[in-house]
Amino acid sequence: MGSLKGYKSMAIMGTYIVLNVATPLEAAKHLTDSHHAILITAAPHPLSVNLKHPDNMPTVNGNIDSPLASRILSKDFYEPFMSQLSRRRIEDPIRALLPLEDRPGVISLLAGKPNAETFPITAMQFTLRDPVTNEEVVVPLTEQELARGLQYGSSAGLPDLNDWLIGLQEHSHGRKRGEGWGLCFGTGSSDLIYKVCNALLDPGDVAMIEAPIDTPFQRGCTDVPQYRMYDDRGWRRCTWHRHEGSSRDARKLAGGQAEAESSVHCTDDPYYYLYFGDAPRPPSYFMLERDQPEVGRVIRFDSLSKVLSSGMRIGFLSAPQPILDAVVLHTITSNLQPPTITMVLSLRLLKEWGYDKLRAHVDRVAQFYHAKRDVFERLMHKYLDGLAKWNTPEAGMFFWFKLNNLTDSEALIRTKALENGVLALPGTVCHPDARKTAYVRAAFSLLAEEQADEALRRLRDVIVAAQKEAVSASA
Ligand SMILES: Cc1ncc(COP(=O)(O)O)c(C=O)c1O
Repeated sequence: MGSLKGYKSMAIMGTYIVLNVATPLEAAKHLTDSHHAILITAAPHPLSVNLKHPDNMPTVNGNIDSPLASRILSKDFYEPFMSQLSRRRIEDPIRALLPLEDRPGVISLLAGKPNAETFPITAMQFTLRDPVTNEEVVVPLTEQELARGLQYGSSAGLPDLNDWLIGLQEHSHGRKRGEGWGLCFGTGSSDLIYKVCNALLDPGDVAMIEAPIDTPFQRGCTDVPQYRMYDDRGWRRCTWHRHEGSSRDARKLAGGQAEAESSVHCTDDPYYYLYFGDAPRPPSYFMLERDQPEVGRVIRFDSLSKVLSSGMRIGFLSAPQPILDAVVLHTITSNLQPPTITMVLSLRLLKEWGYDKLRAHVDRVAQFYHAKRDVFERLMHKYLDGLAKWNTPEAGMFFWFKLNNLTDSEALIRTKALENGVLALPGTVCHPDARKTAYVRAAFSLLAEEQADEALRRLRDVIVAAQKEAVSASA
């Protein structure tokens, strides 16, 4: 763990589907012929390995024994990765001047900030359940917090929340400040994923994507056909060791470039804290990267959605500064900033708790889903034994199961199951090339036991009927 060998092999393992942003069928050719290629992988962590201009790429000749500061990739390293669109963006002149408002003594006539006296909300408080004692405490926002929350803020997000979460990354991934990375916010991690894809992908670029996949990355590269990732444990991360065979194909496809020095890895990890496996939590790529000869390739997406609130829409990006700059510039040109009010609320909440109580909270959340998984799996055995196969998920909130004797789950799930009153996700949507697959995704996060029982009973009925049909058709 943490070795160069381990990290490099992880980065290229998995089953890949190759897509060309403009013409999918040309993709493999592009990967082998062109130096202008993008590889996107998932399964463990990295969703993207970007291989633009590998020949010209400035690199650091790092050695893992040398101090970390000497292994941090320079700003120039990211230059060739940036998309045309990202290069064309210009800074908003008002937003560029905004930080000067904080300079002592300055009277600002700059921005079109509304006068807070006109806002109708005059006080705000929330009730917070303590993750250790279960006690509920009322947390009133101070006047200053409220004023801040109701007003425009920085496009990169609330600085103190940024600071708090940088501390969390150190807590969770062992990555310290000043180690070649920083943090910015998005309106959920989907927003950040979209913006990073936008910053790195041009039409015509090739995307090599680990599959099956389930991430908002498909919204990120709108010209790339849908791609999503799920492994057969219903788990989106850290399963690299099971993909060794396919990694060879990936390397061959990429003409050996997957091992080139010119790569960055995007890792979408909103379920990081929802791990409930028996083995110790596998390390993140962000963590492993610290011990590599070069530091600064991992672009990590986190989200508060699955652990604090999905409606607050807070995602955060841990990445090298040039990537953060591109994302913030995109934010300035699109939605201006993530909502200040939900950032203020979450900062207040996190400060009330501190890192230890947050850890206690996420551990409880993980245990909650663990228990849900156990109930759901018991019912899966009750209704689907002999009809489907699956591996037990160790994180997250989904089962990913394969229907026996069928090659495609699409019609069955989309029509027959729905007619029978149960909605699930056909596995084909988790494949970038929309291939036929007998896999189905089922979420166990919300259902009470009786509902799960009924849902799986309904599913069983349609599976049995479809499998009978398939057998008589082949007889
Ligand atoms: C794999 C994955 N990535 C990202 C997201 C987006 O999360 P957010 O709410 O932060 O946009 C989701 C949401 O379901 C997800 O499943």
